Amino acid sequence: MEIHHIPVLLNETIELLNLKENSIVVDATLGEGGHSVEILKRIPKGLLIGIDMDYETIERARQRLLQVRDNFVIVPGNFKEINSLILPFAKSVTHILADLGVSSLQLEDESRGFSFMKEGPLDMRMCRPCTRYTAYDIINNFEESELRDIILYYGEDPFASKIAKRITEERKKHPIETTTQLAEIVKSVYPKGYYRIHPATRTFQALRIYINRELDNLKGFLENAPTVLESMGRIAIITYHSLEDRLVKQSFKNNPTLKLVNKHVIKPKEEEIATNRRARSAKLRVAEKVG
Ligand SMILES: C[S@@+](CC[C@H](N)C(=O)[O-])C[C@H]1O[C@@H](n2cnc3c(N)ncnc32)[C@H](O)[C@@H]1O
Repeated sequence: MEIHHIPVLLNETIELLNLKENSIVVDATLGEGGHSVEILKRIPKGLLIGIDMDYETIERARQRLLQVRDNFVIVPGNFKEINSLILPFAKSVTHILADLGVSSLQLEDESRGFSFMKEGPLDMRMCRPCTRYTAYDIINNFEESELRDIILYYGEDPFASKIAKRITEERKKHPIETTTQLAEIVKSVYPKGYYRIHPATRTFQALRIYINRELDNLKGFLENAPTVLESMGRIAIITYHSLEDRLVKQSFKNNPTLKLVNKHVIKPKEEEIATNRRARSAKLRVAEKVG
């Protein structure tokens, strides 16, 4: 089976989770199963519960995990509902992992519309059956001020107003239908030589976060996950941008039932970034249940 996604901060995460052979572990963002494969190898007498809201990628992960062993279950769903999702299998668990965002599998499939590097329809829904708007709906129908707010708040793009204005000008001529069309429009707003990363990076991030309600989901998860964690159990979260990381940091700090395992946030080493560009913005925080 061809593997698309390289798991980020894999060794650091596995080490800090400190798994035992009978651990009961939730991988709340199963993806292509990169972290889960290594977890499963270490819990021969335990149970892995894999969650993902993307129904379209779950089967691949299942096939991959079956090559290790079969003490796992996979539950399609949103991790903010972790309590009810795990209930048929366990009342409480010893470890929880969330590796946020999208996987390379999703990014590389142009039909999903997540990537400005590949021409595809403007979609960006992680769960197509359970999500209201596509990126097409937003780009072609939302008010200019709404577009600006989304790009500013979720993308923190300094050119949000100009990008929103240009989008509304362009869509008057014809609908904006593809990822590469949108990327070109955003790029045309940026002053030449101003950017280190592709100018469309922030706009695409903003749309993806908005469409999939990523921050609301994370808030729900941060509230609920510690309640199903056993005493001395550990929760590890890998984030990829400051909006997510801020929520995790604050939530771990303010939750009286959690104590930090790593005082300083863990970032990938240069060698990892050199072989996996996706890792460059990753941050890992781990906490332990004390209550
Ligand atoms: C970065 S990938 C995980 C990759 C995985 N750790 C691996 O090594 O293969 C993030 C995954 O989380 C899923 N996801 C994002 N938000 C979610 C949510 N609220 N509930 C459940 N799954 C979610 C995405 O569909 C995606 O498959």
